[in-house]
Amino acid sequence: MIHNPTIDVLLGHRSIRKYTRQAVPDEVIDTIVTAGQQAAFAHQCYSIILCKDASKHAFNAPLLFTVCVDLHKMEKVMAARGWQREMCDSATLLFSIQDAAYAAQNMVIAAESMGLGTCYLGFVPFAAEANKERMNLPEKVMPLVGIVMGYPDQNPPVRPRFPKDFTLFEGRYRQLDDTDVTKAMEQMDKGYLAQNYYRNNNVMLPLEEKEESYTFSDYSWTEHISRKLGQWERDPEKMEALFATYGFCITKKEKTDEI
Ligand SMILES: Cc1cc2nc3c(=O)[nH]c(=O)nc-3n(C[C@H](O)[C@H](O)[C@H](O)COP(=O)(O)O)c2cc1C
Repeated sequence: MIHNPTIDVLLGHRSIRKYTRQAVPDEVIDTIVTAGQQAAFAHQCYSIILCKDASKHAFNAPLLFTVCVDLHKMEKVMAARGWQREMCDSATLLFSIQDAAYAAQNMVIAAESMGLGTCYLGFVPFAAEANKERMNLPEKVMPLVGIVMGYPDQNPPVRPRFPKDFTLFEGRYRQLDDTDVTKAMEQMDKGYLAQNYYRNNNVMLPLEEKEESYTFSDYSWTEHISRKLGQWERDPEKMEALFATYGFCITKKEKTDEI
C-alpha cells in the first residue's frame, strides 16, 4: 500500500457528527468550493447553496452545503445560444447527479485535508416543498445531498468497508457464492460491533411488520441497511411526484400533440 498525504486523507475519512463552535474562515470555505468546482464534469449542471446558521444544521455544524443538480442555469445558457434541451430529464439527471456527486466528494476531501470534519446528509432531497421555499429554488434545481462541515469535536475510528474481492472484479463480474457473502457480511458486522457503532449513536431502525429480536449486541450494519432497503420508499409514484415537484419528469412524457 502506497502512502502520501492525499491517500492518507482519503484513508482517514470518517463521518463527523459532533462539531466545535469554531468558525470556519472564509478562505477555507473558498478553498473547499474551488476544489469542488475543479472536479471533472460532464456539463457542470450543479449549484451549491451554503448556509452558515449552525442552529439550523444537523449536529449544529457551522456549515451546511446543499449540492443541487441544476438544469435551470444550463437551460438559460442554451437559450442564450438559441437551443432548447431535448435530452430527456432522466438522462440529463443521470449526468447531472454524476457532476454534483464528484463536486461534493471533492469538497469533502478538500475540507478533511484542512482538518475539518464532514458528514453527508442523504435525506435532503425528500423535503421538496420546504427546500424550494427555504432555498428559493427555481424549477429544475433539486438538492442531491447536504454536507455539514466544521471542526470535529470527536475522534471516531475509521469504519469498515466490504472486502476488496467483494468490490473489485477484474474484467467480468465474478459469480458470488455463499462464502463470499458471509465473509463480506462478517467483515462489516463484526467491524461495526467492535466499534459499538449503533449503541454509541443510539440508532436501531424500527421494524415495520416484524417483532424486534435484536439488541445493540447483535444489531449491526447489514441488518441496518436491510431495514432501510427492505422497508423505506416502496412507492415509485411517490418518487415520481417528488421529482415532479422539482420540475423533472422521470416517466414517459405524455404526447399531447398526437392524434
Ligand atoms: C449519500 C450519503 C448520504 C448520507 N446520509 C447520512 C445521513 O443522513 N445522516 C448521517 O448521519 N450520515 C449520513 N451519511 C454518512 C454515512 O452514514 C457514512 O458515510 C457511512 O456510514 C460510512 O461511515 P464513514 O463515513 O464514517 O466512513 C451519508 C453518506 C452518504 C454518502
